[in-house]
Amino acid sequence: MKNDINNNDRPRFATRFGVIATTVGSAVGLGNIWRFPYETGANGGGAFLLLYIFFVIVVGIPVISAEFLVGRKSRRNILGAYHTLAPSHRRLWAAAGSLGIISSVLILSFYSVVAGWTLEYLTEGVTGRLNDFAQGARHAAFDSFTAGWACVAWTIVVLLINALILLGGVRKGIERVSNSLMPLLFVILLALCINSLLLPGAADGLKFLFAPDFSHVTGRTVLNAMGQAFFSLSLGVGTMMIYGSYFSSKTPIVKSAAATAVLDTMVAVMAGVLIFPAVFSFGASPAAGPKLVFEVLPDIFAMMPGGAVWAPAFFLLLALASITSTISMSEICIAFICEQWGVRRRTAIAVNTLIAVCLGSLCALSFGPLADFKICGFTVFNLFDFLTSNLLMPLGGMFVAIFTGHVISRSIVDAQLAPAPRRIINAIVFSLRYIAPTAIAIIFVSGLL
Ligand code: TRP
Repeated sequence: MKNDINNNDRPRFATRFGVIATTVGSAVGLGNIWRFPYETGANGGGAFLLLYIFFVIVVGIPVISAEFLVGRKSRRNILGAYHTLAPSHRRLWAAAGSLGIISSVLILSFYSVVAGWTLEYLTEGVTGRLNDFAQGARHAAFDSFTAGWACVAWTIVVLLINALILLGGVRKGIERVSNSLMPLLFVILLALCINSLLLPGAADGLKFLFAPDFSHVTGRTVLNAMGQAFFSLSLGVGTMMIYGSYFSSKTPIVKSAAATAVLDTMVAVMAGVLIFPAVFSFGASPAAGPKLVFEVLPDIFAMMPGGAVWAPAFFLLLALASITSTISMSEICIAFICEQWGVRRRTAIAVNTLIAVCLGSLCALSFGPLADFKICGFTVFNLFDFLTSNLLMPLGGMFVAIFTGHVISRSIVDAQLAPAPRRIINAIVFSLRYIAPTAIAIIFVSGLL
């Protein structure tokens, strides 16, 4: 294992703004704009939102802080980080790190497929085709698109754009692209929100999103809220760890973790403000599930004044949000290949892209030619989603919480989390020791069932 690399040669993010843009860029993605609204819609609205915020504060911020600190203290890829920081049982912890790398590749593979859908919709929106469909025809077009080879082609386009950004390196690629895309994303999102709020009947949508109705809350709702918090904050596979390894020694970890969590939640809430008023204003159902954004919303845009502009703007928003997330997933594997195998970044990017193109194509085909190819009853796409969201991410989150709370010495944790106030550090450590592992164990067991 090549663990003797010179840490001073490792890249660092250039500015504080860059730190926030990259970490928020990773966190903000399909999870906020596609998954959050349909989960909220299917889980009763405001009550789900409250539970979600609860988990972001109690589990999310401590686990992001833990990932940042393990990354920055070790200045290594996830496997190297566990291996160098573990005081004993190094091999065992390195195995935990490998799990993160495998998860990141699986997530990248199915995530790129959905990111590819957003590119298809973006081009259909720009050319005006999206709004020209007759009612039923739009849904049929979505089904036939996802079932065909065009979907594979878009997945590959996503992975190539992703590789191109990564080739620029940490500062000139990841940081620079995030610095310009994240502000743009906020502007587009804000414009879309204002437009939705001005629609007649917008208040009903806001009431659905913000007025908590606890009569629909079940054990499942609570689990979905926690799973959503994990996915949305990119936790448990080492994304935040690898970004933390590029922080300067002056970056305040707890503040950055809190800023990431707050901005990520803000984007999710804004996505809700964009979608639910529109859904209620046009009499659609908020509980349409994963198709909410790809079928219900385009129908609404087609009826909305100015829809020819709002539809492409919305899918551009989704595409931008996804690409800053795919680069973060890829960086986990790329840093691992570079540092552990001692190869050049270019080679590592090629390997990562090639694996993701192969696995991503299988995921893309799961909606068409491979729809009947099932492993344990799952299509490839659903298998990767299930394995990562329900098993590998919670497991990875549990490892990093236990590692930071119980295994590495408290003085390292304190030094890394300084200058945060003492009681905040204590609260974070308390969550990492007891609350986060227990909560995650519950998601894990229920995920298995
Ligand atoms: N958090 C991103 C989203 O909300 C997706 C993401 C990026 C991710 N990196 C991750 C999810 C690592 C899980 C693990 O869309």
